[in-house]
Formats: sequence, structure tokens, C-alpha cells
Amino acid sequence: MGGKRVARIVVLHGPDLDKLGTREPEWYGRKTLEEIDEEIRSLVVALGYEAEIHQTNREEEMVRLLRDRGAGSAGVVLNAGAWTHSSVAVREAVASLDARVVEVHMSNVYAREPFRRQSMIEDLVVGKILGFGGESYLLAVRALDALAKKDEGK
Ligand code: DQA
Repeated sequence: MGGKRVARIVVLHGPDLDKLGTREPEWYGRKTLEEIDEEIRSLVVALGYEAEIHQTNREEEMVRLLRDRGAGSAGVVLNAGAWTHSSVAVREAVASLDARVVEVHMSNVYAREPFRRQSMIEDLVVGKILGFGGESYLLAVRALDALAKKDEGK
């Protein structure tokens, strides 16, 4: 029997984002990753999705998460951190994904060092949201939800 399966929104945080709260608070604020994840989880669930959130400092794990958890999801919110600017492996994992990906940054990367202006994934994602601190993730979740509702003709 079972009912309709609940769609999943996957949130992936890349390297060093486990240090939020103490890491460069002038760019990332004082909230811990746990606090931010709690806010994301509440919103995702309130919008009617299953929430799946991971952080990793290992590139190979990020590739696997994109492949294994991103696939078949209602969308992926991806803050690839430093890999955004450098990783061909993350790019290729995003390229082969069948789900929507939103690129997220907490800080305004355009107001920082020039190397942060390069994104390896920006041409592959549906859009990017940056500069709003932890709120960037919430805006990305809302964007995925809006697109999913549009798909369903709602
Ligand atoms: C970041 C910006 C990146 O340049 C940096 O390497 C990060 C975090 C952000 O959320 O603002 O790790 O993605």
C-alpha cells in the first residue's frame, strides 16, 4: 500500500563548514553548523519534504553524496565551500546528477579575494544564492520548493 513517498531535499556542506561559529565570523557569522542545520531542517520539513543534511571535509565523500543521495531527490542545496573554486571532481558529480542543484554561499564571494569569483559549477546549477549568511540555505530551499511546485502545476 504505502502512500506517496515524501520527496527529499538534500543539503550538502563542504570543507571547513563544520567550523562555523568560530571560523571567520566576519564572513560567516556566529551560528554553529548545528544551529544552521536545525533551521534548514525545520523549513524543509515544514514545506513537506524529508530533510537530509551532510557535511564533509573529504572530496571523495562529497562526490559520493552527490551521486548517491542527490540522485532522485527533489533538489540539492550545495555549499561546496573551497571546492566550488577548484574541484573538477565535484563539477563532474554535479554534471552527472539528474536532480536540480542550487549553489549556495554564506558570504558574498564577489566581495572577497578574486579567486572566489570562479565557480566550477555555476553553469550547471539552476541558480546560486550568496551573501545572506545562514539565510542563503533557506532561500535555496524555498527556490527548490517553488520549482518543484511549478513542476506539479501548483
Ligand atoms: C563559502 C565561500 C567559499 O569561498 C569558502 O571557501 C567557503 C565558504 C561561503 O559559504 O561563503 O568555505 O562557500
